[in-house]
Amino acid sequence: APLVVAVDGPSGSGKSSVSKAVARRLGAAYLDTGAMYRAVAWHCLNEGVDLSDAEAVAAAAVAMNLDQSTDPDVEAVRVGGTDVTEAIRGPEVTDTVSTVAVVIPVREELHRRQRAVIAAAGRMVAEGRDITTVVAPDAHARVLLTASEAVRTARRSGQLAAAGETGVDAGTLHRQVAGRDARDATVSTFDRPAEGVALVDSTELDFEQTVAAVLAAVED
Ligand code: C5P
Repeated sequence: APLVVAVDGPSGSGKSSVSKAVARRLGAAYLDTGAMYRAVAWHCLNEGVDLSDAEAVAAAAVAMNLDQSTDPDVEAVRVGGTDVTEAIRGPEVTDTVSTVAVVIPVREELHRRQRAVIAAAGRMVAEGRDITTVVAPDAHARVLLTASEAVRTARRSGQLAAAGETGVDAGTLHRQVAGRDARDATVSTFDRPAEGVALVDSTELDFEQTVAAVLAAVED
């Protein structure tokens, strides 16, 4: 039967790894919408688009040829035939993604694409910042995944270390996480879940407990 699970949360909340695990357990596809905004940022940087020119950024987003895996076991993102799976996680993209994400026509274009991908999948776990509220407000289950800022900064630090990026000190990391939160606050705030959205606070939960809490919200 069709099943759409929407998961939103701030950076470092663990929403990507948790959503992938939930998708595997449900035999569902997985959509990382943050990767789509990152792909737009990469595309603009690659094409030399002036990021302060909202119209040019919007035009680049509409023209972008994006091919993204929705298999939770295969992470693969291609833009116009170039494999950008790694590049979209790099510091240049991470620093510019919030700038392209506030451009309304960029959001409208990606919302359209996201709704099409979700409709085509049938069973899907879609993850981002406005999935429970804007992209799929009628999803079967909607979850807001949060964690304290301290825990999110620590997880981000662990991710960077795993990626071999050492040398970012704790203070810098904290400013980066808080800074991206502040820039993204114009798109979404995570102070409280929207009406009908289940709150899962993972501050005191380990990974398996968090996955179980999201699955419990799906079964409700
Ligand atoms: O989740 P991730 O950190 O990869 O998201 C990257 C950026 O994409 C976020 O910082 C935010 O600016 C943007 N984004 C968004 N709406 C979404 C998902 C991501 O604006 N649904």
